[in-house]
Amino acid sequence: MARVVIVSNRVPKPGVEGPAAGGLAVALADAIKPGDLWFGWSGSIAKETLLTPRVVTAKGVDYATIDLSKDDYEHFYVNYANSTLWPLLHFRPGMVTFERADYEAYVDVNRSFGHALKPLLKDDDLIWVHDYHLIPLARILRKLGVKNRIGFFLHVPFVPASLLETLPNAVETLKELCNYDVVGFQTERHTGDFRDCLRRMMGYEAEPGKPVKVKGHSVLPLACPIGIDADAFAKIAMRAAKAKDTLRLIESLAGRAFIIGVDRLDYTKGLPNRVEGFSRLLERYEEHRGKVSYLQVAARSREDVVSYQELKRELDRAAGEVNGKFGDYDWVPLRYITRPMARNTIAGFYNVARVGLVTPLRDGMNLVAKEFVAAQPPDDPGVLILSEFAGAAEEMTEAIIINPHDADSITEALHKALTMPLDERKERHQALLAKVRASSAKAFCDRFLGALEELPKAAAA
Ligand code: G6P
Repeated sequence: MARVVIVSNRVPKPGVEGPAAGGLAVALADAIKPGDLWFGWSGSIAKETLLTPRVVTAKGVDYATIDLSKDDYEHFYVNYANSTLWPLLHFRPGMVTFERADYEAYVDVNRSFGHALKPLLKDDDLIWVHDYHLIPLARILRKLGVKNRIGFFLHVPFVPASLLETLPNAVETLKELCNYDVVGFQTERHTGDFRDCLRRMMGYEAEPGKPVKVKGHSVLPLACPIGIDADAFAKIAMRAAKAKDTLRLIESLAGRAFIIGVDRLDYTKGLPNRVEGFSRLLERYEEHRGKVSYLQVAARSREDVVSYQELKRELDRAAGEVNGKFGDYDWVPLRYITRPMARNTIAGFYNVARVGLVTPLRDGMNLVAKEFVAAQPPDDPGVLILSEFAGAAEEMTEAIIINPHDADSITEALHKALTMPLDERKERHQALLAKVRASSAKAFCDRFLGALEELPKAAAA
C-alpha cells in the first residue's frame, strides 16, 4: 500500500507515554504504520507561524510539526475552530461566536499547513486530512499543484442543513469539503445530513453510496465508524488490572461498586447532568449510599476558551456539593480529577469498574465506550451506560441507552446497572464486544483508505 500521510491539527508527541483516553490521536495511533508520515501542529506557540516543519522519527513513523504564532493560535484554534465550528457541529448554535477575521485567520493557517506540507509529499502518497480544523486544506493543496488523492474524515458530528445554514459561510464550507475525493463521517446519520446539505444548499444530486458530481470533480461521502484494536486493549487492561495503580484503587474502594467516567472537560460531554444523575441516585436509592464510588476523570481542555473555564467552575462546584451532601468521614462518593490520566492506567480502572458512564450531549463516536467494553472481564463484566447522542450508540445498542438531557434517566440507568444480574451483564457484554471487535481501528482505516485508493488518480487531479 502507498504511504499514508495523516494531517491533523493535534499530533501525538512521539516518545511520550500513550495519550489520554479517547480522542483522535488515540484512534489514529492504532492505525498508523511504519513508513507513514503524520503532519500537524506541534502544540507550541512561537513568535511566528513556522513553515519549515520539525521532523522526529519514532517507531518508523515520521512526525512533522510546525509551531503557530500567538495570533494564529487565538484566531484559528481558540476562536474559529473551537468557538465557531466546535459548538456548531455539536448542535449548540447558541454558543457559536462568529467573526470574519477569525475565519480569515483559519484559512491562513490552513495555507501555512499546505505550504509546510507540500515539500514533504511524494507522488503516490495517500493524503488523509482529519477534523474540522482543516476543512480548506484540499483546495489549498490543489492550488499548490498537489495531484494526490486527498481524503477528509470528520471526527465530530455533522449537523442537518437547518443548523449548518446558521453559519454565515456555510455554503463556502460545503464547497471546501467538496474539494476532497472522499469525505468520511462517523455515522450513517451524519453522512445522510451531509448529502442533504449538498442537495438543499448546493443543488447537487446526492444519492446514498454514490459519488456526488461537483464541477469537474466528484466527491464520495462515506460513513466510516472509527474503532479500536479491542484485543490489544483488552490485554493492556488485564495487565494494568494487576499493576500498582489499579491495586491501590481497589484497596481504596474497600469493596464498594466502582463507577467510572473518563472525558475531556468539555461542555459537549454532559458532565453536570451526569453528576446530577449520580446525586439523585444517592438521594432516591438509599441502598447505594456508602456502597458505591464514582470516579470522574474530566481532563482540563482548551483552557483559553471562556466556555470551558465556566464549565470547570460549574463542575468544581457540583462535585463539591455532592460530596458535601452525601459524603461521610470514611466515604467520598465522587472522586473528581481534572488532570489527564494515561490510557494504560485507565484501562486497568475500566477492568474493575462495575459501571461505565458515557453520557455526552453530542459526540462524533466516543471511543471511551468501546475501550470500556474491551477492558471488561467476560466472566464478570461491568455495564455500559451510553448516550443516544454519541455516534457509538448507532452500533452499541446493547448498552443501557439514555437521553443525557434527562438526569433522571441517568439515575435510573445507574440503579439498573448496579443491580443487573450477572447473566444479563454477560449477554449484553458479549454482544457489545463482538461489535467493538468487528468495527476496529483496522476496519476503519481499510474502509476509508480502500475507498480513497480505489479512485482513479486522474479523477483526483
Ligand atoms: C476531539 C477532536 C480532536 C481534538 C481532540 C482534543 O477529539 O475531534 O480533533 O484533537 O478533541 O482537543 P484539542 O483541542 O486538545 O486538540
